Amino acid sequence: MLPENFTIRPVTEAEADKLTKIHVECFPRYWNREVFTDFFSVKDTFAFLVEEGNEPAAMLVYRVAFDQAEILTLAVLPSYRGQGIAAKLVDDMLEKCKVLGVEKLFLEVEVGNEPAIKLYETSGFQHINRRKLYYQQLDGSLTDALVMMRKLS
Ligand SMILES: CC(C)(COP(=O)(O)OP(=O)(O)OC[C@H]1O[C@@H](n2cnc3c(N)ncnc32)[C@H](O)[C@@H]1OP(=O)(O)O)[C@@H](O)C(=O)NCCC(=O)NCCS
Repeated sequence: MLPENFTIRPVTEAEADKLTKIHVECFPRYWNREVFTDFFSVKDTFAFLVEEGNEPAAMLVYRVAFDQAEILTLAVLPSYRGQGIAAKLVDDMLEKCKVLGVEKLFLEVEVGNEPAIKLYETSGFQHINRRKLYYQQLDGSLTDALVMMRKLS
C-alpha cells in the first residue's frame, strides 16, 4: 500500500519529463528525456508514476514482448524511500503483466545495489545470471549486472 497522500497511475510519453526528473536525482549516470521518449517509441512500453499531490516521487518503466516483460528502470526519490513505494510499483506492474499474459519477467541490477536486490528478492525474483562488466561508472570502471527473473504463471 502507498503512504497517505500518494497516488500511482500509468503515464505515457507526454510525461517523460517527470520520469527524467526522477532518474536524474536517483542515478549518477542518469538518462535524459530522449532516452525516455525513445523507450516509448517501442510498442508495449509502459510506465507508472507515483506522486505526492502533483509532485513526482517514484516511477517504473517496463516493456512487454509476447509472454515476457522487462523492467527498464525503477526509482524512488531519496526522501520517499523506505515506505513501500517501490514494492507497490512492482506489485502493480506484476498485476498488469498478468492481465497481458506475461509469463516471465526479467531485469538487470548492478551487483552491490543491495536495496534494489533485496526489493526484487522480496518481490519473488530469482538470480539467474550475471553479466560481466555491464555497467560503466562515472570514473570509467565497469561493474557486473545480476540478471533476475520471476515467473508469473
Ligand atoms: C531500490 C529502491 C527503488 C527501493 O525503493 P523503496 O521505495 O525505498 O523500497 P520499499 O520501501 O518499497 O522497500 C521494499 C523492500 O525492498 C528492500 N529494501 C528497500 N530498501 C532497502 C535498503 N536500503 N536496504 C535493504 N533492503 C531494502 C526491503 O526488502 C524492502 O522490504 P521491507 O521494507 O519489508 O524490508 C530505491 O532505493 C531507489 O530508487 N534506489 C536508487 C535507484 C535504483 O537503484 N533503482 C533500481 C535499479 S535496478
